[in-house]
Amino acid sequence: MTVTIVGSQLGDEGKGGIVDVYGDAVDVVARYQGGDNAGHTVVFEGDEYKLSLVPSGAVRGKVGVLGNGCVVNPETLFEELDALRERGLDPDVRVAERAHAILPYHRVLDGLEEDVKSDDDLAAGTTGRGIGPTYEDKAGRRGIRIGDLLDAETLRTRLEYAVPQKRALVEDVYDLEIGGDVDTDAFDIEALFEQYREYGERLAEENMTVNCGAFLSDRLESGEDVMFEGAQGTSIDIDHGIYPYVTSSNPTAGAASVGTGVGPGVVGDGEVVGIVKAYLSRVGTGPLPTELGSVDGQTPDGGGRPGEDDLATYIRDEGGEYGTVTGRPRRVGWLDMPMLRHAARVSGFTGLAINHIDVLAGLDEVQVGHSYTLDGEELLTMPTTTERWGDCEANLRTFDGWDDVDWAAVAEEGYEAIPENARAYLDYIAAELDTPVYAVGVGPGREETVVVEDVY
Ligand code: GDP
Ligand code: IMO
Ligand code: MG
Repeated sequence: MTVTIVGSQLGDEGKGGIVDVYGDAVDVVARYQGGDNAGHTVVFEGDEYKLSLVPSGAVRGKVGVLGNGCVVNPETLFEELDALRERGLDPDVRVAERAHAILPYHRVLDGLEEDVKSDDDLAAGTTGRGIGPTYEDKAGRRGIRIGDLLDAETLRTRLEYAVPQKRALVEDVYDLEIGGDVDTDAFDIEALFEQYREYGERLAEENMTVNCGAFLSDRLESGEDVMFEGAQGTSIDIDHGIYPYVTSSNPTAGAASVGTGVGPGVVGDGEVVGIVKAYLSRVGTGPLPTELGSVDGQTPDGGGRPGEDDLATYIRDEGGEYGTVTGRPRRVGWLDMPMLRHAARVSGFTGLAINHIDVLAGLDEVQVGHSYTLDGEELLTMPTTTERWGDCEANLRTFDGWDDVDWAAVAEEGYEAIPENARAYLDYIAAELDTPVYAVGVGPGREETVVVEDVY
């Protein structure tokens, strides 16, 4: 059977931790979209692993697959594999031959377009990993796939078509000089050919490439269990999110089928677990109706709740909501129920994992955005346009707070040991989404999860 893990908000809900908690029972963990824009954390026995491409099952020694729906930067993949091997893990990662490769020019173009967009407040605050430009090339039928790296002639043909177009973009559209303003090698056919040919050789030597759909189907047919590890979250989904402040793929559950090559029935017959952070965190721009306080450069003008800066700082500090690379504060807000109702419907959640309830401990009261008011009417779900979403005013509901307790002990004892007021909060979420709580995160570690339902 399969279990699909989906971020239900804006990314960083704690998907990696839940993959790890449930990962013991599975044989294969497959990513179906995104690339090294993801950062999934697994904490086990005091060791913290930050994974961007290698599926989180690697910490438990499970086979990892990067599906055809992913965009793969071979450079960061090999760096990550080498770093994990140095730490004593032995990751076995397969890459779909149909997955698209991220090239150096994609990263450069990601940065250039964000710069231009920032003049009009349109920048999404991307991770700069070249994700959007690579998916653009995939849809534009000028991408280079992992399978192409295995065949020198195909690789050269593809580069000879794509690279002159990228050069023209830089020079004629952005009016920049290659060699002066931007890196020459990123736009040099010969340099790219050599570099990517070598990646192809290493992929072949390590026997890493697969026909993803066939690989997974064979394993499922032989009785093995597969987990699909979504990256990012529903509200930054290219179709169902807050366009254009989104990523360029579909984190939602339907993509687990398209992005790996198994039928939708396979995904639908399994469990689909929505990962929920007990409050909101956001890296990036765009509106956020339940935002607390504000963050310069990310919160739009007039957004946030300036009077609640102290509360925002408290949650940010307790939850460690600072960028892992830049140290920049992340935006935080109360849980947004219309956002979650939307997510539950789009992906058809069969269960929920609600993380970070320990972070909210110690507050006198905890609020949630139960619904929105838009044009004098109450809305229970998100409007379709981001501009209208920005016009929504959140109607807050207040819950009594809960104390900080020995969360590891709570995890061991089970659901009933969770403080009563926190249970009231969890029960409210489950009732509103008509979806049972399968797990509750009470800390970052593997043992700090209350498992209510074993998904396998
Ligand atoms: P992902 O991208 O969804 O996998 O999430 P990230 O790893 O980017 O961010 C989640 C962060 O919160 C990581 O540092 C986790 O170790 C941590 N974390 C996950 N679950 C919990 C939880 O229940 N409580 C606390 N305090 N931290 C958690
Ligand atoms: P995980 O898997 C949080 C955000 C970026 C930006 C937008 C587009 O760890 O939950 P991109 O580089 O994808 O083109 O950026 O999406 N973003 C994430 N935010 N968690 C992530 O991944 C993210 N991946 C992308 O901040 O706003
Ligand atoms: Mg993350």
